[in-house]
Amino acid sequence: MTTALITGGTAGIGHAFAEKFATLGYGLVLVARDQERLEDCAVRLRRQSGATVETLSADLATTEGRAAVEQRLSDADRPPVDILVNNAGFGLGSPFRRTPIEEEERLIDVQVRAVMRLTHAVLPGMVDRGKGSVINVASVAAFVPRGTYSAAKAWVVAFSESLAAELAGTGVRCMALCPGFAHTEFHERAKIDEGDIPKWMWLNASDVVDAGIEDLRKGLTVSVPSARYKILVGASKLVPRRLATKVSRNVSKRW
Ligand SMILES: NC(=O)c1ccc[n+]([C@@H]2O[C@H](COP(=O)([O-])OP(=O)(O)OC[C@H]3O[C@@H](n4cnc5c(N)ncnc54)[C@H](OP(=O)(O)O)[C@@H]3O)[C@@H](O)[C@H]2O)c1
Repeated sequence: MTTALITGGTAGIGHAFAEKFATLGYGLVLVARDQERLEDCAVRLRRQSGATVETLSADLATTEGRAAVEQRLSDADRPPVDILVNNAGFGLGSPFRRTPIEEEERLIDVQVRAVMRLTHAVLPGMVDRGKGSVINVASVAAFVPRGTYSAAKAWVVAFSESLAAELAGTGVRCMALCPGFAHTEFHERAKIDEGDIPKWMWLNASDVVDAGIEDLRKGLTVSVPSARYKILVGASKLVPRRLATKVSRNVSKRW
């Protein structure tokens, strides 16, 4: 049985991955901090699709939390993880100079350090077995300069592209998934006013996941779900960097 470990599998895009993989008959390992919510999700997914669901409560901003997940990813006595989805993440609702430095560091810990360490833990087993996939959830924010969040997502894209090249011929794939604005808990958690964001820019988490899985099947290393964001990302590469920065700042005028 294919087993997928999803960080942040209890809400938003991560939960949409869990639902999709459960319907495909995959076993799941869900990682998040809230133990009660993990259990609720596991019960619901088992009931809906008969999926095998493990839960692992871990804070990926901490050394202990990351170590617990790394241990599961490299544990030879448990069902091997065939798909790792590094999805857990959050935004910061204020500009760099006004955000406590501890929050900025937490963002790097969850969205860079954990992505790197979990990937490092899972790869040896995948390469030995000659199969496996790592999906790193980045963002279209990777392509427009905007604070530590954008910088972290740009790192995720570069890291994924580099790994995909390194893994060529091993049977293991790596892809960065770069969604635009998606209806999840992300903006509420970051206290970002959703009203500032034009309606046409919103995506559904399940559509993002379907597009990502399809692009992984096609062998893409960077997936940008939806035609409108493909156009925007293409345009962001053509316009001068300073202009792209200005436009991105204007999307949310609160900053
Ligand atoms: N929504 C968007 O518009 C959007 C756009 C582009 C990219 N993304 C990216 O998509 C990914 C998922 O975001 P989302 O929108 O689905 O967010 P979400 O709805 O807020 O879900 C976040 C998930 O991550 C978990 N999580 C948060 N911090 C964690 C930590 N320190 N340790 C372990 N788990 C943690 C949460 O569970 P607990 O709170 O229980 O830990 C939850 O399961 C993120 O990487 C985000 O940057 C989102």
